[in-house]
Amino acid sequence: MRVLGIETSCDETGVAVYDGSAGLRAHAVHSQVDLHATYGGVVPELASRDHVRRVLPLVEQVLADSGLTADALDGVAYTRGPGLVGALLVGAAVGRSLAWARQLPAIGVHHMEAHLLAPLLEDDPPAFPFVALLVSGGHTMLVQVAGVGRYRLLGESLDDAAGEAFDKTAKLLGLPYPGGPQLEQLARGGEPDRYRFPRPMTDRPGLDFSFSGLKTFTRNLVMASGDDPQARADIARGFQDAVADTLAIKCRRALRQSGTGRLVVAGGVSANQTLRARFDAMAAAEGATVHYPRLALCTDNGAMIAYTGYLRLAGGDRGTNGFNVTARWPL
Ligand code: KG4
Ligand code: ZN
Repeated sequence: MRVLGIETSCDETGVAVYDGSAGLRAHAVHSQVDLHATYGGVVPELASRDHVRRVLPLVEQVLADSGLTADALDGVAYTRGPGLVGALLVGAAVGRSLAWARQLPAIGVHHMEAHLLAPLLEDDPPAFPFVALLVSGGHTMLVQVAGVGRYRLLGESLDDAAGEAFDKTAKLLGLPYPGGPQLEQLARGGEPDRYRFPRPMTDRPGLDFSFSGLKTFTRNLVMASGDDPQARADIARGFQDAVADTLAIKCRRALRQSGTGRLVVAGGVSANQTLRARFDAMAAAEGATVHYPRLALCTDNGAMIAYTGYLRLAGGDRGTNGFNVTARWPL
């Protein structure tokens, strides 16, 4: 079974073909980073217009790369939400039209479910059940995963998502958009012990997160330190270490609570190498394993959408009715 996947929920146009016997046959992403950089963040209207320009050429390119024609497809998956409505509508319109023209099932995929399942595309995939930490620009969630489509939310952020905290903190440090990877870079030259940031909500029970306080803490330090470049690197280091510790502490708690011994970490922030090192150390001490997507599949991409669509079809799903996309959608 072969499924075309289309991702347009935010500022990346992603397209891929997943094949049940051959695996991921082709995938490509067009990032809009340059388009939004001047504005310091994603401008929804510009995002939608760029998806319109990019999506069909990308579909043609990915089909050519996969060595298949559209006639060889068994279904089309697209991101139905959560995300920017105008951007989602582009992928939904194209995906549903392609499916309709060939009488194929069209599957509206949950973007965060797709992030969650992305590590299953790797060579040594985790067995079910596992605990998943999803850390993206819009969401931070801990999820107990019993199987495909069997998710229980264990905890989530009560304010900013982890990626959002990275982006806002980076902005305060004068870094260009998108801030997460830039902040990681700056923190490499930072002193670990100069600034001690709080580890929010780790001193009380539960698996929820709160990251907005770290941003305020950063703002105060930036104001006090003027434009000393070393202080900026030290602040970046202190912030990143605090996020890494906070996430690792909650993951350890979730692993102990669930008794599964397997942790999946996915979403854009899972590309961060300091965070990965912290998760690896925590898991080793707990006798648990950690599974990440390859770097190209941490941030938004079509492969995770094609794969999730494939799993849905293979599980007997006959497709999604109606043309509705949704900005908010619980997992
Ligand atoms: O999953 P994603 O591509 O899009 C959403 O679904 O939101 O995640 C994007 C987020 C952004 O906030 C970005 O700054 C963050 O992931 N990110 C990183 C890194 N790479 C991407 N944050 C920290 N370190 C990184 N290396
Ligand atoms: Zn995402």
